[in-house]
Amino acid sequence: MRMICHPEDSLKETGIPPDNLSRKEWWIMPVNIDRKNRLFFLSGGGISYVMKIDEERRLLNLHWGHALPFSALPYDPAQDGPAASFDLPVSSLPLEIPVCGTGWYGTPAVSVENSQGDNITDLRVTGWRIRDGKASLSGLPATYTESPSEAQSLEIDLEDALTGLHVTALYSVFHDTGAVTRSLILQNRGSAPLKITQLLSASVPLWESGLEVLHLKGAWARERTVVRTPAGMGEYRIFSQRGASGHEENPFMALCDPSADEFSGRVWGVSLVYSGSFLALSSSDVRSHSRLSIGLNPDVFSWKLDPGEVFTSPEAVMVFSSNGFNGLSQVYHRLYRTRLARGYWRDRTRPVLINNWEGTYFNFNEEKLLSIAQKARDIGVELFVLDDGWFGRRNSDTCSLGDWVENREKLPGGLRHLAEQINGMGLRFGLWFEPEMVSPDSDLYRNHPDWCLHVDGRERTQARNQLILDLCRREVQDEIIRAVSAVLSSAPISYVKWDMNRNMSEAFSSELPAERKLETQHRYMLGLYRVLETITSRFPDVLFESCSGGGGRFDPGMLYYMPQTWTSDDTDAAERLKIQYGTSLVYPVSAMGAHVSAVPNHQTGRILSLRTRGLVALSGNFGFELDLTKMSDEELAECSELVRLVKRYRKLTQSGTFWRLLSPFRGEFTAWSFVSESGDEALLFACKALSVPNTSPVRIRLCGLSESAYYQLDDGRCLQGGMLMHYGLTISLNGDFSACLIHMKRCAAPANP
Ligand code: DGJ
Repeated sequence: MRMICHPEDSLKETGIPPDNLSRKEWWIMPVNIDRKNRLFFLSGGGISYVMKIDEERRLLNLHWGHALPFSALPYDPAQDGPAASFDLPVSSLPLEIPVCGTGWYGTPAVSVENSQGDNITDLRVTGWRIRDGKASLSGLPATYTESPSEAQSLEIDLEDALTGLHVTALYSVFHDTGAVTRSLILQNRGSAPLKITQLLSASVPLWESGLEVLHLKGAWARERTVVRTPAGMGEYRIFSQRGASGHEENPFMALCDPSADEFSGRVWGVSLVYSGSFLALSSSDVRSHSRLSIGLNPDVFSWKLDPGEVFTSPEAVMVFSSNGFNGLSQVYHRLYRTRLARGYWRDRTRPVLINNWEGTYFNFNEEKLLSIAQKARDIGVELFVLDDGWFGRRNSDTCSLGDWVENREKLPGGLRHLAEQINGMGLRFGLWFEPEMVSPDSDLYRNHPDWCLHVDGRERTQARNQLILDLCRREVQDEIIRAVSAVLSSAPISYVKWDMNRNMSEAFSSELPAERKLETQHRYMLGLYRVLETITSRFPDVLFESCSGGGGRFDPGMLYYMPQTWTSDDTDAAERLKIQYGTSLVYPVSAMGAHVSAVPNHQTGRILSLRTRGLVALSGNFGFELDLTKMSDEELAECSELVRLVKRYRKLTQSGTFWRLLSPFRGEFTAWSFVSESGDEALLFACKALSVPNTSPVRIRLCGLSESAYYQLDDGRCLQGGMLMHYGLTISLNGDFSACLIHMKRCAAPANP
């Protein structure tokens, strides 16, 4: 179904079912239009997102939150604005797309310089369309539907009459969850060039004040700490200008009621499906009302739009929950696991792997790798991953990135021979790449010194002894596609770890003219996305895992191409409690790589039991990252038992509903659980950090079970769902960082309950 409407001729009646839909169907459509009052209702999953075209044909946002009945909203600009104000009328309007120059004094969502040298943009609605399903975004990752009935989309056209800037605001609402996506498509329909200098994919006014802001802050090896603080009366900004989403901030921000917790309270979240520099901000307007925005970072972005040209913004995904943070996360998890991630591995249980990085670093040869693989096979591992150091003359991080040819000194028989021997043991074979980079000491650099990001006359700043290839250049994209494809075709390779180990400096493409230099970072991302789309569709059965010095590019953009990401270079299980807890605010467990590594831990020096290390890793895509040949028989037996547990529970951990129960940021106990979609089965993980004398054991209340059903616990007890959820399970854990795993499965009611 496709409807085309124009405000002048069609905003005449209220609630008329479109075309041949019955009134009943019309009421449950995700996109409804009240023509008389010029209202757009986006609904689903218990939420409403309501916009209005006002008398001046400006687009306003009246509500994003709990579901509203589909009826006229009692909105009156005279009453809902300030009674008296010094300010211009526009400044107190709840604009859906705030712009520059007509009296809006907050941060604009769209700022465009025109040929007269000003940036006045006066956007008025000219029409709209409704479509079933959801269209893809040209060259960009985005959520998708598998059938048109899963979502409905609304496209609203706006125009600045003087410059000819045309904006299509593209909304989709997912029927089940109420997740709303928005992207802006800008087209220059005028006759002179325009320059986009600011573009926020979402910028939503909330008729609320006194909210708190929440985001995921971090650093290398300390990614995604949950930070929560009063939003305040000014602007609260988080951003990356690194050319990657980065370790320091994640492209996500939420506002919440001060009383909100994991289980209750209102939370509004925005997440950007993008892997490059971004800006997210919470701001308050002249009425002290909050606004939540996310989009491209204007400090490192501008875009020249010649007449006729089109620019598409990355997609923002907006999720509202009135059930606290778990409610918010569960919508993101479901959407990102099933309608952002794609391909063969999306719904498949992920293999138990061993990665040699922390086991050997660069110091390995074929014999060493095979000895580790042999032990791995014996304990039930399914995939052997050869990390950095297999190519060129790479015995340290000082050389060879770009020379993707196996090192015959380390691997005399070559990659194919190694992979076949490992396959012969019953293991699949996986390989590490860092394709976006080049070492100055490499044949690639010697042959193409102009292929990296650089500015003539300035130093090419190195980090980890490497430079970044200029993915704005088509020939560079093609060379990466060629080189990676050649290796993947040369041997039976089932898995790729796609790494990226530095952020940008001198981030300008030598190919772009001066007036387009600030397009470099976004053009790089478009180039990267083309490379990833080509390679992942050329090798559809290969499992791709994204990585950037651990979790430096753990974002929805990368998840579109690669269903899992290496969560952090910090493999210490105590640290991982926080990192995985924080990551789960937005990202599903199926996206998180989690490995058991050696003790003392290489990042923290901490010594934790194998059991705790194992149970924490079992809460993600499980793997080992150590030298199994150095383990005792007892330790290997314990590893084998862990692998057995992982295989038993991985369907539940990867696709069950994830509940955060006790936060490692708030006390000594961490707890989370996985509940099957039917509610018939659950797995509880709990861990105590430091032991404190003379304290009671913790009582953990489960979530998501059936109230009346009985559940058999693995200690033999049979308890009712209501009891497990409202009374809870008492958990005694002895010793620092001791952990437990409790499985429960629905059973018949006991004869004498
Ligand atoms: C950074 C990654 O996060 C590590 O796991 C490892 O692959 C190294 N790079 C290799 O250089």
